[in-house]
Amino acid sequence: SLASSDHLRHVESMTQLPSGAGQISHLNAVILGEPLASEENDRVFPSHDFSRQALVSSPEQYWKMYKRSVEDPAGFWSEIASQFYWREKWYPEVYSENIDVSKGTVKFEWFKGARTNICYNAVDQNVEAGNGGKVAIYWEGNEPGDDGQLTYAELLEKVCQLANYLKHVGVQKGDAVVIYLPMLMELPITMLACARIGAVHSVVFAGFSAESLAQRIIDCKPKVVITCNAVKRGSKAIHLKEIVDSALIESVKNGVPVGLCLTFENQSAMKREDTKWTEGRDVWWQDVVPQFPTKCAVEWVDAEDPLFLLYTSGSTGKPKGVLHTAGGYMVYTATTFKYAFDYKPSDIYWCTADCGWITGHSYVTYGPLLNGATVVVFEGAPNYPDSGRCWDIVDKYKVTIFYTAPTLVRSLMREGNEYVTRYSRKSLRVLGSVGEPINPSAWRWFYNVVGDSRCPISDTWWQTETGGFMITPLPGAWPQKPGSATFPFFGVQPVIVDEKGNEIEGECSGYLCIKRSWPGAFRTLYGDHERYETTYFKPFAGYYFTGDGCSRDKDGYYWLTGRVDDVINVSGHRIGTAEVESALVSHPQCAEAAVVGVEHEIKGQGIYAFVTLVEGVPYSEELRKSLILIVRNQIGAFAAPDKIHWAPGLPKTRSGKIMRRILRKIASRQLDELGDTSTLADPSVVDQLIELRDC
Ligand code: WT7
Repeated sequence: SLASSDHLRHVESMTQLPSGAGQISHLNAVILGEPLASEENDRVFPSHDFSRQALVSSPEQYWKMYKRSVEDPAGFWSEIASQFYWREKWYPEVYSENIDVSKGTVKFEWFKGARTNICYNAVDQNVEAGNGGKVAIYWEGNEPGDDGQLTYAELLEKVCQLANYLKHVGVQKGDAVVIYLPMLMELPITMLACARIGAVHSVVFAGFSAESLAQRIIDCKPKVVITCNAVKRGSKAIHLKEIVDSALIESVKNGVPVGLCLTFENQSAMKREDTKWTEGRDVWWQDVVPQFPTKCAVEWVDAEDPLFLLYTSGSTGKPKGVLHTAGGYMVYTATTFKYAFDYKPSDIYWCTADCGWITGHSYVTYGPLLNGATVVVFEGAPNYPDSGRCWDIVDKYKVTIFYTAPTLVRSLMREGNEYVTRYSRKSLRVLGSVGEPINPSAWRWFYNVVGDSRCPISDTWWQTETGGFMITPLPGAWPQKPGSATFPFFGVQPVIVDEKGNEIEGECSGYLCIKRSWPGAFRTLYGDHERYETTYFKPFAGYYFTGDGCSRDKDGYYWLTGRVDDVINVSGHRIGTAEVESALVSHPQCAEAAVVGVEHEIKGQGIYAFVTLVEGVPYSEELRKSLILIVRNQIGAFAAPDKIHWAPGLPKTRSGKIMRRILRKIASRQLDELGDTSTLADPSVVDQLIELRDC
């Protein structure tokens, strides 16, 4: 069999569980009300009513579909793909793949030769199916009361106008467009307009600094940059256009002049008179886009043509341009969305992620719209004007599916239940979590307090690279265990390997790899296929290496345990230690820096930086602040170190390699676990570091 036999066995044994769970759903109350007797009992069952109405309502049904998906991927995925509109069908093969570097170049292709358009499927198809009057987007502004909405028919018109404008200014199929926008409706509109004409969008999260934005612009050389003048987040206005201005100056210096900066006037945050302007380069969106026709022919693209680039952090200082293609990504995001959230046409769906990250690409824009869903897009901050804002929004729009990150759950949990219970939340039926492992206590609070102990939680494990969910509950299918992402999605074959790359079976922990390709997989790192192979396919030949540690329990449930590489996960944002280090050492008074992740109560992980100063420079509070500022300026506020630890020296091996293992122990104050320090070039640095930790 193609499948990881181990997983199949586990799933098979699961089918011995009572299905539908009606007769055991009372366990919920018992289990959740009391301390847990053992892990065996630590399960939360979907209610009988939920399971009965679910798309997948029993372990047996999952098992059948899963088995088919791995034994006959071509048949399984082509049946699903047939529900989309294809201008032309794929060639005889549904997919081809080489995942094994030892056998040649790594290459995945799905639906090759087929022609389609994801914008057409996400927007036009819904209008043509008679749902033009259905709300596609509810937009909720930063200020309560500032809101708007677009039906599918209206969305189509807006997308077409921008697509026509982009064509008018010379953007063609295959050209890159950089988008630096906050969560306005214009953000998904812009993504869809690019997709419509076959342009490759690269959204840069509008919390990244000018330097980070410039770095991305220099890498992908866009014809146009699309932004807005400013945005209000909470009570603060952020002048995005000024950040873009600096980035564009920087990119000119690097030989990448961008001729056009299309700027949306976000009136609630800033008037156009107050916006700095570069004549000849800058154009107001409102002055040009509405003049273009509301119909625009679709550019049919090959399923394997690029759809977007999204930069993400790796273990070197240079961000990686993750490239996704049109066809497989379309099929995969739509299908994962539908099953993992048990989507029904009557649902109102809200994902709190920003479109600047992959979650916003796959599960604010594409996945939901491909299903004809009504999506809430929220511009503001979840604690403004107070910590009840999310539940206010849930009640206002009657949100049924609420998808968020553990860091938000933990921060709201700390504010107390009163902010939650003040609101009804009775529309909710499915909750979702993403970005990092969710700790069981946050899981329980989310389940019991937010969801009133009736809404299953889909804890979705996936990555920028995977395009869509890889390991995720199907909420009506089986009992959940708080903190476990449960089982693989259809077609996904996870394996756990040891240091040497041998698959380990049964109850175990190790490195999480994936055995075969799946439609939503990224196809390359933009301009660097070698780095793609080296990072993801060489560590364990024959597999895609995720960078995550993972364990599997005796029931076959997967438990993600966090990154095993030099990547830190801060509030679900991926930050490379090397990026922070290179920002720190660019400070003239910093000689050397080493960054590690430490546990953080709210953010999951915090950034802990050991800094060695240039000879003779004294430690000072002012210097500490300026070091933090340089990271904010070079990467973005979300990457600011939580702690600067002065380091007269760093623990290094005789060959000069920094021993991060020791630094991690010092940072987390596990001094009795420092291990062997005798191989260090200078073992005394460890004592010096311990002495300086509270300095
Ligand atoms: C890394 C990917 C794709 C979602 C947003 C983050 C961690 C993500 C979970 C989860 C445990 C998770 C992993 C992964 N992660 N979701 N449900 N449980 N860990 O995307 O920036 O590409 O980061 O986020 O460590 O490798 P990303």
